[in-house]
Amino acid sequence: MLADVLHVPFADADDFHAPSNIAKMQAGIPLDDTDRAGWLAALNIYAHGMLEKGSVVIACSALKEKYRAQLRQGIPDPAVKWIHLQGDMALIHGRMAARSGHFMPPALLASQFAIYEPPSEGMVIDVADTPENILQTILLNMELLAEWGVVGLGVMGRNLARNLGRNGVSLSLYNRFVAGKEEKVAENAVAAFPELANAKAFESVTAFMASLARPRKILLMVNAGEAVDEVLSQLEPLLSPGDIVMDGGNSHYADTRRRQQQAESQGYHFLGVGVSGGESGALNGPAIMAGGAPEAWHQVAPFLEKIAAKDAGGSPCAARVGPDGAGHFVKMAHNGIEYAEMQLLAEAYSVLRRELGHPPDEVADIMANWTEDGLRSYLLEITIRILRRREGAGWLLDVISDKASHKGTGSWAVMAAGKLGVPLTMMTEALLARFVAAMRDERQAWSAAYAFTPDRLSVSIAQLKQAYQLARIINHQQGFLLIQSASKEYGWSVNMAELARIWTNGCIIRSELMIDAQHFFATTDDILRHETVVQWVRTCKPALQQTVSALGFSHRSYPCLMSALAALNAMTTANSAAHLIQAQRDFFGAHLYERTDDPGGKKYHTDWEDGGQEI
Ligand code: 6PG
Repeated sequence: MLADVLHVPFADADDFHAPSNIAKMQAGIPLDDTDRAGWLAALNIYAHGMLEKGSVVIACSALKEKYRAQLRQGIPDPAVKWIHLQGDMALIHGRMAARSGHFMPPALLASQFAIYEPPSEGMVIDVADTPENILQTILLNMELLAEWGVVGLGVMGRNLARNLGRNGVSLSLYNRFVAGKEEKVAENAVAAFPELANAKAFESVTAFMASLARPRKILLMVNAGEAVDEVLSQLEPLLSPGDIVMDGGNSHYADTRRRQQQAESQGYHFLGVGVSGGESGALNGPAIMAGGAPEAWHQVAPFLEKIAAKDAGGSPCAARVGPDGAGHFVKMAHNGIEYAEMQLLAEAYSVLRRELGHPPDEVADIMANWTEDGLRSYLLEITIRILRRREGAGWLLDVISDKASHKGTGSWAVMAAGKLGVPLTMMTEALLARFVAAMRDERQAWSAAYAFTPDRLSVSIAQLKQAYQLARIINHQQGFLLIQSASKEYGWSVNMAELARIWTNGCIIRSELMIDAQHFFATTDDILRHETVVQWVRTCKPALQQTVSALGFSHRSYPCLMSALAALNAMTTANSAAHLIQAQRDFFGAHLYERTDDPGGKKYHTDWEDGGQEI
């Protein structure tokens, strides 16, 4: 096991005995110093040879001080590490008796104990312990245990590992072996990136687990879903109480809750860790949102805080946002907000380019002005860069298919909102817009069938900018509401100001608005009633109304801008038309309703079929 972890060969000194020595022992006669001299010389030559190539682990009954001197002859001091395995004679005798096919009879053990000289140097290990614990003690003593393990060396895992390595964390990296597809993935990563030069690479889970300091800290960076359960089933038999497994993928929060219960029943910790920032965030500083037990978080926090992005005040954008599934829930909500932010930018681009006729570089210039004007965000910045990217005489964007895809987190967010009863209109529209976009072939056919002719719209760039600004506020308010509702439902006590803070840098939805949100949450849980927001909404609403009204005459789709106005109006309507819905429900299903003239909340039913006082 030690040789495996060190990636060096292993030699059993018993294999170096001359036939005459073996015959003597088989006959029950102890060897003397002369018998052992040739054997020790052969081992010494072998050790020299192995040191020329690298290193070796040799197991040997080097009973006397002079035997040890013979073994190490000509080998410089620092190259030799002595590990003395000591134990009670009865215990060792029992183990020897249990082995079969070995030339040395257990009865010879007494003669060995008789000449044994305890060592004056090196590590002394009690063999009564388990091989796993012995290995840990040895590696710890040799300062060879890694502080942190990463499982899964895909692009995110590799970049997070490089980030950890760059921050001085000693690493063990494991990637599964799949013939022809995933071979030497960890080893290749170590060879390719200087930050990983000191990391140890594994394709054996057992050796990987043995190489980690306890409590082990293991970050899983595998695909969400079954792959996480598969890895856990491999790790579980090798985990020790108190070990911490982190799932850094985009896992569903309900899976994370289930895995945490499983971990608890087995005595190890499981943290669901949302990581945002894509490839470059993982490498240069992501936002990290963890969910799980505080005692587990406190042990991994110093490492994750090192690699996380930093906020404007220099604090790490990494935090434990709550217990159990909270980390993955907020990451899911983050992605939902991301979906609507992306859709809003696509809509703004469409208005500027398709409705108003600006070519991509002009759209980029217009949007660049917006960044100077309070609307700075990572997604806006990358949009500007995309719009400026040429290919040959044209724009790269123009050869990219509009068949949008998605990996699931957006739709999970919408489903979670459905379960919790949160009016998540913006994310839902953004998700549905991707579904429609994915139906490219059908759209081509329907477009040909109707052949609508576009009209020039009466919307100004200034109005569009304010409409976009207000729609983003509504999107953020809805996303935060989703988290607040889950926090209440599951008893997570998510600190919204702290969450907004860790989203001010590193993550995909980092923006000036997020910095504002952090400050708003410092004084209120309801940002829509924060006086600054009230003022912004009041200022921007006429522009949103004019934009949406103009877009009503477009033959293109602007679901998120339109949804923003609908949502704002719905949320700011004190007495809505839903009283008619309640009456309808009561009419056909006797579902009861509450009356405004009875604030006690009593439920009423009307026999609608009796004619009553109908006019
Ligand atoms: C992030 C991103 C990241 C990933 C999304 C993409 O925060 O770093 O959100 O998690 O890019 O999962 O999601 P879709 O493929 O569903 O758009």
